[in-house]
Amino acid sequence: MANQEQTWTKTSWKSYHAHQQPNWPDQEAVDKVLAELTRLPPLVFAGEIRSLKALLAKAVTGEAFLLQGGDCSENFSQVSAPKIRETLKVLLQMAITLTYAGGVPVIKVGRIAGQFAKPRSSDTEKVGDMVLSSYRGDMVNDANPTPEDRIPNPKRMLKGYNMAASTLNLLRAFTRGGFAALHRVQAWNHEFVAQSPMGRSYDRLAKQIDQAIKFMETIGISMDTPQITQAQLFTSHEALLLGYEEALTRVDSTTGDWYDCSAHMLWIGERTRQIDGAHVEFLRGVLNPIGVKVGPDYELDNIKRLVEILNPDNEPGRLTLITRLGMNRIEKVLPPLLREMKREGMNIVWSCDPMHANTYTAESGHKTRNFNDILSELTCFFESHWAEGTVPGGVHFELTGEEVTECTGGARDIDDADLNLNYQTTCDPRLNAEQSLEVAFQIADMIRS
Ligand code: PEP
Ligand code: CO
Repeated sequence: MANQEQTWTKTSWKSYHAHQQPNWPDQEAVDKVLAELTRLPPLVFAGEIRSLKALLAKAVTGEAFLLQGGDCSENFSQVSAPKIRETLKVLLQMAITLTYAGGVPVIKVGRIAGQFAKPRSSDTEKVGDMVLSSYRGDMVNDANPTPEDRIPNPKRMLKGYNMAASTLNLLRAFTRGGFAALHRVQAWNHEFVAQSPMGRSYDRLAKQIDQAIKFMETIGISMDTPQITQAQLFTSHEALLLGYEEALTRVDSTTGDWYDCSAHMLWIGERTRQIDGAHVEFLRGVLNPIGVKVGPDYELDNIKRLVEILNPDNEPGRLTLITRLGMNRIEKVLPPLLREMKREGMNIVWSCDPMHANTYTAESGHKTRNFNDILSELTCFFESHWAEGTVPGGVHFELTGEEVTECTGGARDIDDADLNLNYQTTCDPRLNAEQSLEVAFQIADMIRS
């Protein structure tokens, strides 16, 4: 049966095929974990989710801009204060750079505090002569390439919940407790980045912001307001493990509506967005802002139907289409999509993920992405929107605050031979802190108002 014709419940997804689910060896053990998760407190509050949706509504019309980014896949072993702080720092730096250039508020959404499950193109992977179950994210199995480590273990969902809770706790402390105050905009600069051209451009910008704050203080305007002393960071992840998402889906006692309280925003990946699939069925019924990844082989009628199912009331801020088309195909395949959605009057936040369709394997065997390819997709994204009279509403990156060597290019011109210097990702290659800031400056140049 087509979605929409049936009443939604938080378990109605079970009548549809769920792609990309782990082959849990013991269903009873899974059910036990899910029952426990159902009893545990929600990670986010519905009121926060509604605030994010209201902000995203502004990104539909260009009165705000979405910056979404973080690890491809978070690792349990990396849930530590320094790692969380560095990711937050780079997002804050990028956001301030974009705010200054674009003249509109930047909505900061991390791929963080729950990005623990990954879709894979194949169920198995060959390592040496062994055929292993694919790594599906820390919430499912261990990346370590042995047959035992790759067995899906449902207790990992419980650990994922706890890891998300402690990450979120620290993020809330940092963003509310003074770390993210605008007075500290200079202090966010990374040591590693500070000496580079990017670091120096950032420092200049930070000084200007500092002067503006000092000036306002001098003339007696109080800077002791949340707009100056606090930042707002929302969380997001791919809603992949539907059992986990269902367990964290709760009725908001203030409105009686359903929200998936595992994160503020959830997205549906390119591999799980079938209109008759379980992921679409599940997410159509929760009121969170929803993202959908759209790859270059999309069918127009299919996307139209998807938009109707996920946003039947055409509510602004509900739906973000995250296009990931590739630098070679975007110019041809993005405009028809923009034209059709505009003709239909659909309220959409258009975001560009310039990462996922620009991945290739370097000679060294590392999965990588080149900085110029990323930039080229971004440039074409903005230009296509401007040409069609639609609004480029945001960007989506895989990035880290660490000094990794996973993507080639950028100001330090990392080349293929450098990739093994500090290649850490267990999944897709991320921009490092400096490359992230550089990409923010490049976007700033494009959108300067
Ligand atoms: C991702 O965002 O990590 C991902 C798997 O993306 P996509 O669904 O676009 O391939
Ligand atoms: Co990825």
